[in-house]
Amino acid sequence: MNFRKELINHSLMTETIDQHQEGKRDVTFRVFRFNPQVDSKPYFDDYTISAERGITVLRSLNYIKEHVDATLSFRAFCQAGICGSCGMRVNGISKLACTSQVWDELDKCREPGIIKVEPLRSLPMIKDLIVDMDPLVDKMKRYSNWINSTMPLAEMGKKEFLVSEEEFHRYDKATDCILCASCVSECSILRANKEYVSPAVLLKSYRMNVDSRDSIHDVRLAELVKDHGVWDCTHCYRCQESCVKSIPIMEAIHAIREDALECRGPKDTSGAKHAEAFMEDIEKKGKLVEATLPIRTNGMVWTLRNLLPMAMKMIVKRRTPPPPPLVKSAKGIKIFRAMFREMTEHVKQDHQKSHKK
Ligand code: FES
Repeated sequence: MNFRKELINHSLMTETIDQHQEGKRDVTFRVFRFNPQVDSKPYFDDYTISAERGITVLRSLNYIKEHVDATLSFRAFCQAGICGSCGMRVNGISKLACTSQVWDELDKCREPGIIKVEPLRSLPMIKDLIVDMDPLVDKMKRYSNWINSTMPLAEMGKKEFLVSEEEFHRYDKATDCILCASCVSECSILRANKEYVSPAVLLKSYRMNVDSRDSIHDVRLAELVKDHGVWDCTHCYRCQESCVKSIPIMEAIHAIREDALECRGPKDTSGAKHAEAFMEDIEKKGKLVEATLPIRTNGMVWTLRNLLPMAMKMIVKRRTPPPPPLVKSAKGIKIFRAMFREMTEHVKQDHQKSHKK
């Protein structure tokens, strides 16, 4: 059932005579609907209301639910950008409905005057705009995202367990995460592979791993470097761009990788080997030697078993990357190499410094 509801003469705040004089605009919310108990497939409902400047998307949805269609379902609680319950996609971008201004969204509409509201992606749908957060919670458990205190049980509750100010600054930003799952919804890897750890879980893992009061750093790290873990991230930066708290999630992911390379060694997993082969090529040639990258990352047996059919197709279509001897060094390679080594040295020193803290 797909129907259109018009409420041209309703106002969110007060009755009005001249809408534009009073700073009001008619806005249509095109809302995703799906009730698995009665609908065979999803559809969109249009709700047109008069919205004042300063009204948020959540407040508009509340109005629609209270005055137009009580069957509309969505999740919200604090209405202040604190609890993370109201994550949804507004005009195609995952964000908090309670901090999204309707008038700002009007500038981003694909169709003038129509704000599209959909549930978050990459999480199972429950009803309308409500998604199931259990898979995310299960991943938090799988990656042991809690502090397992190093304080002996007998001393707990008797004294404070303090950390230095410098240490706190290392995870201060990460503690701002409100688990709204906007990053989960925007992550390009999760859309292809639901098993992937997810940016929200990686951020939490980073926060726990850098806390000196925690005793299970190694257990957590061992899980993070397994299949579908930290090495699967492809640096698309969508998680960071969509974070409602502007948390540098990619920095946390890089830090976990550096930690893994340092603590477990570069030969630990295919992800680590891939990173090492990548760096080796860039230092030597200033570009990738793609033909041998899979072999150096996953070994000959894996490559033959998994990539041979694709390699044959590429040979037929004459699209194979050149063999190593034919990969010429990039222009200005000597200067580039010197810069690369200097940069690597800086990163090493920075890392040593932060490790001492
Ligand atoms: Fe709590 Fe939006 S309702 S963050």
